[in-house]
Amino acid sequence: MNRMEMDRQLLAGKVAVVTGAASGIGAAVVERFLAEGAHVIAVDLAEPDGATPPGVLPLAGDVAEAETWTRVADLARAEFGHLDVLHSNASVNITAPAHELAEADWNRQIAVNLTATYLGVRACAGLLGEGFPERGPGAVVLSSSVHAIAGLPGHPAYAAAKGGLISLGRQLAVEYGPRVRVNTVLPGPILTPAWDGVNEEDRRRSAAATAAGRFGRPEEVAAAVLFLASAESSYVTGTSLLVDGGWSATKDSA
Ligand SMILES: NC(=O)c1ccc[n+]([C@@H]2O[C@H](COP(=O)([O-])OP(=O)(O)OC[C@H]3O[C@@H](n4cnc5c(N)ncnc54)[C@H](O)[C@@H]3O)[C@@H](O)[C@H]2O)c1
Repeated sequence: MNRMEMDRQLLAGKVAVVTGAASGIGAAVVERFLAEGAHVIAVDLAEPDGATPPGVLPLAGDVAEAETWTRVADLARAEFGHLDVLHSNASVNITAPAHELAEADWNRQIAVNLTATYLGVRACAGLLGEGFPERGPGAVVLSSSVHAIAGLPGHPAYAAAKGGLISLGRQLAVEYGPRVRVNTVLPGPILTPAWDGVNEEDRRRSAAATAAGRFGRPEEVAAAVLFLASAESSYVTGTSLLVDGGWSATKDSA
């Protein structure tokens, strides 16, 4: 890669943490961040099987545990001395109506899908945007969902956590601005391993319910995350971006 190409990279020399990095949207974000010149601390439950590409520091841990975030912050501090981007993306989705959902499954979904973001920001707040304003502001990007804005049967805890992320993102933007920008993406149906257990008919219905008429690809969400993580969105904070192929727009047009 020549000098001009490196200059065009949107995250050249930046340091990012991505959670849920081993699969789907998180994996696509890691790949895109690397291509844009970032170093990535890639957090997931298990260590990856194969070799990790240059630029990636894998960290195995449960994002719902404060201890994992202590290790993330320690690694970022030791290796780089600061952090530019935190993409809080790991999630778990246990489907059942509220009256059938075990309390442990409610608690687990709130812990992984919502509390983990608080734990991550708590551990990393001092590192994010370190050196501002000489260095640019830090950027936090949260992975919410269209479940935050529309009720769909069988997802009480998932939806509550995803809705909470929108409010939390807004709160954090106000709390930590101007040193850190905080934004949230709301993906619609994106074809990832999260859909492995869903039958063909339900998949077809979900894709058909979008204006785009198809599933989204993980790379299409990664592009939106990159926008919110980079200086391309320098005046964007405290907001949410739907990346849903118009799924929510079709709900408004009935
Ligand atoms: N795929 C979709 O249709 C869709 C739609 C809306 C929102 N989202 C959101 O996008 C994000 C990514 O979804 P995806 O489809 O890529 O999911 P995925 O299931 O493909 O990947 C999720 C990853 O998170 C990891 N993970 C789960 N619990 C963890 C924990 N406690 N600690 C660390 N890592 C953990 C898993 O091991 C997995 O690698 C999630 O926040 C999800 O809610 C996805």
